[in-house]
Amino acid sequence: MKILVTGGLGYIGSHTVVELQNNGYKVIVIDNLSNSAIDVLERIESISGIRPEYQELELRDKPAVISFFQKHNDIHGIIHFAASKAVGESIENPLLYYENNLNTLVYLLQECEKYAIANFIFSSSCTVYGEPDSLPITESAPVKKATSPYGNTKQIAEEILVDLSHVSETLQTIALRYFNPIGAHKTAEIGELPKGAPQNLVPFITQTAAGIREELSVFGDDYATEDGSCIRDYIHVVDLAKAHVVALERLLNKKNASNYEVFNIGTGRGSSVLEVVNAFEKVTNQKLNYKIVDRRPGDVVSVYADTHKANNELGWKAEKSMEDALESAWKWEKKVRGM
Ligand code: UD1
Repeated sequence: MKILVTGGLGYIGSHTVVELQNNGYKVIVIDNLSNSAIDVLERIESISGIRPEYQELELRDKPAVISFFQKHNDIHGIIHFAASKAVGESIENPLLYYENNLNTLVYLLQECEKYAIANFIFSSSCTVYGEPDSLPITESAPVKKATSPYGNTKQIAEEILVDLSHVSETLQTIALRYFNPIGAHKTAEIGELPKGAPQNLVPFITQTAAGIREELSVFGDDYATEDGSCIRDYIHVVDLAKAHVVALERLLNKKNASNYEVFNIGTGRGSSVLEVVNAFEKVTNQKLNYKIVDRRPGDVVSVYADTHKANNELGWKAEKSMEDALESAWKWEKKVRGM
């Protein structure tokens, strides 16, 4: 079984390639290296003993996409990670996000239709829920108006997939709504390596601890939460990667209940920013430089997943703790910095 992983050299993609290979799948990776590095191929090989097939490909280049599928007629499924994900950048450059995240999806789906590629896993996000009315969030919670073009691309992408599911005779899709992925592979061969200053909490924490950033800004301590900081559902990236393998198997074994399904992929546990900071200090046994600053515009107060659907229907459950994830993220950061 050959599985195409778009964005397979990126953060979540690379961890998923490892899990796919560990489960006996042949993988072909495409990536445009916009937020990843080519040496991830070797790093994947050093973990799983197999170097995945690879082609550098720009998914915005429609003729290149068409010619890729002409050459590769043995693809059984697609896990589609390739997308841009920086919220602030999407506000400054919305067209880049609509082109990167939506045109590319359409091109891929056109090829799925052409070659009757049935199995498609899409990277969605809990951002589609906006500020939820009740917690934990179930998959039936309403999708709220997106606060950024990035968030909007995830909502529109889901709509594109739903619309296609009404007419496609072949396509079977699972959209996974990720909560907040953190951590790295236990070997510290692969992990999150943002280009430029990190936008996300955990890479900012590890870079601060490594001395690359002076201090972490905690965005707000006056929210209506126990300690005043925002609450998120932080999931270990390896648990998240495994969810993709399980979702793919559901499709390959035709266990899906309909040709478009959505699952929350989180731990079900909410942690505040200050809890993450404290856990990091405890796990690494060092003080983290941080200060409380103003709220960050666009942040929701509290989001965490109801995971019953993923637990019961996918048969998947997050196994690793936030502490495990923070420890692995720190090990990765130290290795990257030669510490
Ligand atoms: C954000 C997006 C989400 C997207 C994800 C991808 C929103 C509301 N959510 O998640 O849609 O899928 O990025 O990367 O835009 N924090 C600090 N200091 C920092 C960085 C973050 O205090 O330097 C806080 C934030 O205020 C937030 C929490 O840490 O409460 C997590 O932030 P982050 O890692 O950026 O993820 P989200 O904003 O949840």
